[in-house]
Amino acid sequence: MDKVIKEFTDKVSSSVYKGIFVKLILSKRVLENQEMNKIIVKYVKLQDQPSLQFVYKYDRNDVTKNFSVEEATKQLQSMIGNNFLDIILYTTKEDIELKFNNKRIPKLYKQKPTFAQAADGSHDNVKKRLLETKNNVYLKSLGITDQKGEIIPSMSAKYKQVEKFVEIIDSLTDNFKDSKPVKAVDLASGKGYLTFATYDYLSNTRELDVDMQCVETQENLVKFCNNTAQKALFGGLKFIKSNINDFKAEDLDLLIALHACDTATDDALYLGIKANAKVIVAAPCCHRQIRSQMKITENNVLEPAMKYGILLERQAELITDALRALILNKFGYKTKVFEFIEYDYTSKNIIITAEKGEMPSEENKAKIQKQIDAIKNKFGIKYHYLEKLIENPVDQSWRILNAQCDRS
Ligand SMILES: C[S@@+](CC[C@H](N)C(=O)[O-])C[C@H]1O[C@@H](n2cnc3c(N)ncnc32)[C@H](O)[C@@H]1O
Repeated sequence: MDKVIKEFTDKVSSSVYKGIFVKLILSKRVLENQEMNKIIVKYVKLQDQPSLQFVYKYDRNDVTKNFSVEEATKQLQSMIGNNFLDIILYTTKEDIELKFNNKRIPKLYKQKPTFAQAADGSHDNVKKRLLETKNNVYLKSLGITDQKGEIIPSMSAKYKQVEKFVEIIDSLTDNFKDSKPVKAVDLASGKGYLTFATYDYLSNTRELDVDMQCVETQENLVKFCNNTAQKALFGGLKFIKSNINDFKAEDLDLLIALHACDTATDDALYLGIKANAKVIVAAPCCHRQIRSQMKITENNVLEPAMKYGILLERQAELITDALRALILNKFGYKTKVFEFIEYDYTSKNIIITAEKGEMPSEENKAKIQKQIDAIKNKFGIKYHYLEKLIENPVDQSWRILNAQCDRS
């Protein structure tokens, strides 16, 4: 057996035994006509034995099978390279990705961990929660929990999203350890589903001093959120009725912008770059701005994938967010783009995280710009809204004030 595959599967089994396993995803099918799209592997405890549950994802259905760790290792060894070419293991210590190159040679890539909490795996409903649900004022106000502090079944997907988001924030918290207070903003905060949980986690669980300002155009939501913050005794959390475009901020530690419609996400990223935010977390919403510009250029072999509305939409999504990540890289941000929550819960499931690092050298900046230009040329894109904001800092009269959402 290939040494790299063996090393990888050893890491999978040892992570399970060490209690640091979070999840494993096998993707990038070898054969185009292979019916199985991907496999998600989760930890489960069956009859007190650590086991792995494989969820085989097909177009129309999922098939679930449980294996002992040894059986699971054999399964993985038979599928890696034969069925899937990109396999990522999330542990609480590191993310390890096994990728095959064009010559089908496997290589391991390691990154900082995306998740801070290991899989719980118990099937007995005593799952440890990151957020306290009993006597939780804001979860009740938001209609996620009932009087007894139990999660209302129809809101369990929303709760999952909130909890997942807190896990992501947790993995980024080291960036704030010297900040007193942690200066945070949430742009387009809406009803505050993720805002309250972020504030609660940072200030109560991590015991940080947090000053968080949240911006939202809808007055009724701003009122509701300020009321809830008061009831929850969240003194450092304020909601302001404003458009992102009019909001000013400097020296931020954390900027979040979740599901801000179309170019409102770019307005938020622009503010984050200008305010030198240490961490930016954005979950893009719709992608109209780029989609409306994309056209079939000469020799573009992707023409068949652009003539159908849905495929064009998906490509616009990929391209918009890839360009956003590249632009952030140009400003010294280390970016990650990953699935926030499984697609079954919401289609708005991509998260971009960006952590401020050293500015790239002029040479590297030029390389990134070349990649940006190549993508734009390929699809006939005249401009990316975020790039245009950065290039025209003085006259921004053309800015879109009320970006339309085509997803709500
Ligand atoms: C889909 S909701 C997302 C709410 C919240 N961030 C979440 O993820 O639950 C989008 C919100 O963004 C607000 N919004 C859109 N454009 C905005 C802008 N330019 N400035 C401030 N708020 C904006 C809308 O009013 C709406 O409440």
